Amino acid sequence: MMISLILLSFLVLVCAYAPLKSSEVKLIVSNQQLDLLDPQNTKGYLEPILKIRTPGSEGAAEVRSHFKQFFESLDSQWNVEFDNFTDDTPTLKNVSFTNVIATRYPPGSTEGSVERLILAAHYDSKIEPQGFLGAIDSAFSCALMMYVVKQLDDMLTIKWKDNPDSQKGLQIVLLDGEEAFKEWSETDSIYGARHLASKWESEKYHDSSNKSKLDSIGLFVLMDLLGASNPSISSFYQHTDWAHINLRSLEKSLRKQKVTKTKRSQRSWFARPGRYFLAGQLGDDHLPFLEKGVPILHLIPLPFPEVWHTITDDGDHLDRDAIHDWALIMTVFTAEYMELTGYMGIDFDNTDL
Ligand SMILES: *[C@@H]1O[C@H](CO)[C@@H](O)[C@H](O)[C@H]1NC(C)=O
Ligand SMILES: *[C@@H]1O[C@H](CO)[C@@H](O)[C@H](O)[C@H]1NC(C)=O
Ligand SMILES: *[C@@H]1O[C@H](CO)[C@@H](O)[C@H](O)[C@H]1NC(C)=O
Repeated sequence: MMISLILLSFLVLVCAYAPLKSSEVKLIVSNQQLDLLDPQNTKGYLEPILKIRTPGSEGAAEVRSHFKQFFESLDSQWNVEFDNFTDDTPTLKNVSFTNVIATRYPPGSTEGSVERLILAAHYDSKIEPQGFLGAIDSAFSCALMMYVVKQLDDMLTIKWKDNPDSQKGLQIVLLDGEEAFKEWSETDSIYGARHLASKWESEKYHDSSNKSKLDSIGLFVLMDLLGASNPSISSFYQHTDWAHINLRSLEKSLRKQKVTKTKRSQRSWFARPGRYFLAGQLGDDHLPFLEKGVPILHLIPLPFPEVWHTITDDGDHLDRDAIHDWALIMTVFTAEYMELTGYMGIDFDNTDL
């Protein structure tokens, strides 16, 4: 019942999406800095997240500083906001939660008129088992988003210099309190996502568009449990199938160019056909946004990786090849969504060198 109502409320979106030229993909490949995603590199993006970071903990505050410092270290202007709130959980009352939201809009745009791509993941770690570090769950996804931003930030600058009133912005959403305190239920899970979705629903832009901060989301990409080998990721929503199809086809093209670690002969990470019967069935941070009509692309492998919710979900159990390929796939996908082709700072007289 609830599910069918949700599906009816979606608008049909016409999404502009522009594939990169192979010379541009080559540029991305040659710019790769995979040491930033090395779980042992203390100066990288991932290692500082691999600590206990349960809601309200000191570790969580340190991880937020790590995010903030990262966005402040970029040459361009990112707006970093903290969405702080408190909530009661089954085991603890009045717990402090903080979502971190980093946004970059074209310089000449008015906020309400810009459709934004959201890359989202949760940064909190699970309370049990004791010592749990949550590398796939979801430290790697957080670091991956930072990596994509770092790779594409200058290209956005180039594009927006020529097109200051572009209609697409990029937003990174790092959610707190995804994990249950006691046992997963509607009220004991996704604390941060529930708070942010209702906050954005009530916040309107101060312009004539009368849009809420939910209306202006072009695509909400939720990443969870990534970083293990050979994931199989289904398309769960018909209205965002186009994005899943694009991921599958760019993966195919990257494999063909032999720039991935995964071989061309291996099965695609992006499984077809769609499994729409699972729409809204997987409990995760996308649900409160989905219920309010936001277009969702849920990048989560099924089955879940073996280390899921066990003490072995640590840096040593991330798969190096998967890290490599995710870095490439998500950088290219984001560049294509943001329509960066032609704005990557290379000469295009000979397009397919
Ligand atoms: C919200 O949380 C951030 C990060 O922990 C903190 O720096 C900031 O002071 C908090 N803001 C408010 C209004 O409490
Ligand atoms: C909950 O915590 C906040 C700060 O973390 C505090 O300002 C507030 O008074 C607390 N509320 C209750 C009911 O304890
Ligand atoms: C703005 O949108 C709300 C519903 O979201 C509607 O009730 C209201 O009439 C709209 N206002 C204008 C000025 O269009």
